[in-house]
Amino acid sequence: MDKFFNVSDIGNLDKALSEAFQVKKTPYAWKSLGENRTIMLVFFNSSLRTRLSSQKAALNLGMNPIVLNIGTDSWKLETSMGIVMDGDKSEHIKEAIPVIASYCDIIGVRSFAGLQDREYDYAETVLNQFIEYGGKPVISLESATVHPCQAFADLITIEEYRKVARPKVVLSWAPHPKALPQAVPNSFAQWMNAAPVDFVITHPRGYELDPKFTAGARIEYDQMKALENADFVYAKNWSCPGVTDPSKYGQILSKDMGWTIDDAHMAVTNDAYFMHCLPVRRNMIVSDSVIDGPKSLVIPEAANRVVSAQVVMKRMLESLNDGEGI
Ligand code: CP
Repeated sequence: MDKFFNVSDIGNLDKALSEAFQVKKTPYAWKSLGENRTIMLVFFNSSLRTRLSSQKAALNLGMNPIVLNIGTDSWKLETSMGIVMDGDKSEHIKEAIPVIASYCDIIGVRSFAGLQDREYDYAETVLNQFIEYGGKPVISLESATVHPCQAFADLITIEEYRKVARPKVVLSWAPHPKALPQAVPNSFAQWMNAAPVDFVITHPRGYELDPKFTAGARIEYDQMKALENADFVYAKNWSCPGVTDPSKYGQILSKDMGWTIDDAHMAVTNDAYFMHCLPVRRNMIVSDSVIDGPKSLVIPEAANRVVSAQVVMKRMLESLNDGEGI
């Protein structure tokens, strides 16, 4: 495995899930796999879970993790090509990436969408620069359009808690004061479409996600109808993906608090579990009563971030040790 962006990069989902449960049961069984290997975890944006779970996963595998916060620990990096660097960016990514790569075996990158230029974001420009100039396996730690480590952890959590063979899983948009990227819902949709679940997406009109990620999923604009008999409710805010109107890309189209997941929403479900990737804005995305209630999975979901990251790093190390690395 030399990259982890999409669900297709993990291969067979049943196999990935059984590997995940093996890793969860015996996290230190592959302690020698990462001996003398280093993973560089590069953060252009803030993180709590991704930063800590990636380090923990690397340590479980015997690897040395190094965390680099771009702009605070390092020089500010220029990512645009052919630019006169007379602003506040002191170093270009074309030098920085090969230098970073020379110090490690695997690179993880967090680089959020700027939400200004849809074409630039949806081309995964920064992540692809790490592939082009780094020559090392690359993991998206939430990039412009995807958050695969989160979606894999979400799938592991659903597999652990599902009561029926094919649960109904509903991804619901919810209000937020800031414009957020689409990476989490994109990846969640992509992974749920590949999983044995009955998947429904609900959001106000104008928030249609890119069909590249949602194709095959049912879209239901009536949130209450979508939530009927759900086994899992996955709440998330995202800004306008610009699918129906590219001029609105990255904008907030609605702050309708009627979409906040509360007890009335959960009451129409099949006693559903509540999920969110965190961090979450309480009483914007979800009411205190739901997130603090007995059906909230937000903490086990976050704990599974170590498991998903460890499976991905384990596979990359196995490829490197077999001489299949790039
Ligand atoms: N869910 C998630 O990626 O959390 P962080 O942004 O804190 O890493």
